[in-house]
Amino acid sequence: MASPLKSLVHDDSRYQKSFKLFLERSSEHQCMQDFIHSTLPDILASIGDGKSQLNVIGVGSGAGEIDLEMFSQLRLKHPGVTVDNEVVEPSSQELHNYRVLVSKKPDLAYIKFTWNKMTSSEFEAHWREKKMTKKADFIHMIQMLYYVKDPGATIGFFRSLLHKNGKLLIILVSGESGWGKLWRTYRSQLCNSEISQCVTTGDIKSLLDSEGASYRSYELPSQMDITECFAEGDEKGELLLDFLTEVLDFSKTASPELKAGVLELLRHPDCSLESDGRVIFNNNLEALVVDPLP
Ligand SMILES: C[S@@+](CC[C@H](N)C(=O)[O-])C[C@H]1O[C@@H](n2cnc3c(N)ncnc32)[C@H](O)[C@@H]1O
Repeated sequence: MASPLKSLVHDDSRYQKSFKLFLERSSEHQCMQDFIHSTLPDILASIGDGKSQLNVIGVGSGAGEIDLEMFSQLRLKHPGVTVDNEVVEPSSQELHNYRVLVSKKPDLAYIKFTWNKMTSSEFEAHWREKKMTKKADFIHMIQMLYYVKDPGATIGFFRSLLHKNGKLLIILVSGESGWGKLWRTYRSQLCNSEISQCVTTGDIKSLLDSEGASYRSYELPSQMDITECFAEGDEKGELLLDFLTEVLDFSKTASPELKAGVLELLRHPDCSLESDGRVIFNNNLEALVVDPLP
């Protein structure tokens, strides 16, 4: 049954506010940076076939902090290359933030940015309409596959754009994280299948396995302090709860039973650890590095 609750992504301003707070309360970007510095360099070294220009597509790039961190590693592995970078991001606010970030970094002159203010499915339609034949060396979708109607079809389309030794990087929450437990328990009440999927890497790996796709996976341990969620009426706690449930104004619109059930589960040892009076949610992520279609 589709959820009667309204999805948080309907309100971009509240979504961005809650995402920003989530970044402050979690080690989300820190664990991605660790991955980018420790594991990604070897993956980036394998792409490109010695070409002097690399084509990159960032899907759901947000404000671009993680994209730029990856570019610095790409540049170290491929000194002297130029980069053609398609950014696919539907939020005007985030696209603006990304452009401002880039404008402050003159050393990024080797990258040509194309700003696509659109969703991944709009980008797919645009790509087909323009009969584009350009192949990508590196495509990333970081924490965004929750927001597409059909994650399998989205992955299939972007894989089809990869150059023969290109790579598609997907990062999502791990099936074994607190998120996985929350969604397995409350998927039917929380997730609106039109726009938010509550997918974990567990779901994506099953999908890739069923297609016989070749990929590698890497764990990214991460935590999130959700203590404020348990202070009734706390504004920040409510924003975090919206982010955790993907429901707009969850505290005000969910039934008392659903709210009580979700709060109980969030502090259950399956999802969180309690330490020094803080409730620390398991925010473990997983990165999947997928090969092109055969
Ligand atoms: C959780 S944020 C992740 C941002 C960034 N990748 C990061 O990890 O910091 C999700 C991003 O996906 C974008 N998004 C939402 N729906 C999308 C869609 N259908 N296609 C592409 N991007 C989408 C949002 O605007 C948001 O910037």
